[in-house]
Amino acid sequence: VFANIAKAPEDPILGVTVAYNKDSSPIKLNLGVGAYRTEEGKPLVLNVVRRAEQLLVNDPSRVKEYLPITGLADFNKLSAKLIFGADSPAIQENRVATVQCLSGTGSLRVGAEFLAKHYHQNSIYIPQPTWGNHPKVFTMAGLSPKYYRYYDPETRGLNFQGLLEDLSSAPSGAIVLLHACAHNPTGVDPTVEQWEQIRQLIRSKGLLPFFDSAYQGFASGSLDADAQSVRIFVADGGECLAAQSYAKNMGLYGERVGALSIVCRTADVASRVESQLKLVIRPMYSNPPIHGASIVATILKDRDMYNEWTIELKAMADRIISMRQQLFDALRDRGTPGDWSHIIKQIGMFTFTGLNTEQVAFMTKEYHIYMTSDGRISMAGLSSRTVPHLADAIHAAVTR
Ligand code: LMR
Repeated sequence: VFANIAKAPEDPILGVTVAYNKDSSPIKLNLGVGAYRTEEGKPLVLNVVRRAEQLLVNDPSRVKEYLPITGLADFNKLSAKLIFGADSPAIQENRVATVQCLSGTGSLRVGAEFLAKHYHQNSIYIPQPTWGNHPKVFTMAGLSPKYYRYYDPETRGLNFQGLLEDLSSAPSGAIVLLHACAHNPTGVDPTVEQWEQIRQLIRSKGLLPFFDSAYQGFASGSLDADAQSVRIFVADGGECLAAQSYAKNMGLYGERVGALSIVCRTADVASRVESQLKLVIRPMYSNPPIHGASIVATILKDRDMYNEWTIELKAMADRIISMRQQLFDALRDRGTPGDWSHIIKQIGMFTFTGLNTEQVAFMTKEYHIYMTSDGRISMAGLSSRTVPHLADAIHAAVTR
């Protein structure tokens, strides 16, 4: 009965790792998936995460019972505080419904399913370009993605005018997906002043903001600074959604730990929203896993561990920033044609290099460097040892 099933293509991002794993070259380098690596090129488990896991393992009261459908209550409260700020009026007034979900993707999907069922508009405006999984998540949930202009290939910066024009002509009530910080794939974020203009436009048109926050703390090294875009919106008292991931900022990739928060106008609305989120979640995966959320809650509620986390997080962010400088310097030293200043201007995990599909294919074939075909490289996968190899490959690709 399955004889006629067509072979599906690999995922544009995770498929890069599949191809990388098949390559036997000793110099191969995976700059595809956004996953942090140490200077030695190894995955990193944060010390504070190991400490939290030790505490959990040694706590005899810990059992493996089901969590509630909405997840671990402490985790949800602490996650909302982390993104909205401890003094957020929305939290103090109990206007936020937060549910633990399966990392950023699961949080987006639960939010999208909820909106498809309960919200009057099914158009969701997403930036052009955006993370490749966004349109798929929203389409599968029954929303209808439309693009708004975001990136200007000429300046390798923000097309702010295009963004404002496209959101101005969106139908009233449309949902708008915003990357809270460290836009993926471009590494280009609006300034605080631009966020304020975006907020005014979104509110004046009655659009509904849906934030994807996958990199809080990773862009600037500061958890507060990287949540500022979200907080500007919450401060005006209006509604918004926020999907949080702990994959990058706590290095909990495979634990699949994240949260969806829906900021409502009143506590009563928030409690009804939460009751409906349970109906979304129960038939999808019943209730979320306990381990990753327990790690996060353990760290967030202990002042000492929280501080240790912020130090480790800042070290990861700083290493990425230093990779940007090293790559930029290496291209300058080689006299590689072109303006590469965007490498140091863009922020977060990725550099949107401007290399085209053919140049990427050349670098993979000749230099065993793996990256997404849109020219995005994960700076987090680079080290001082591998920068020269990447710079040689880029130089060869643009001068051939
Ligand atoms: C990425 O963009 O590389 C990450 O967010 C990982 C993923 O799931 O695609």
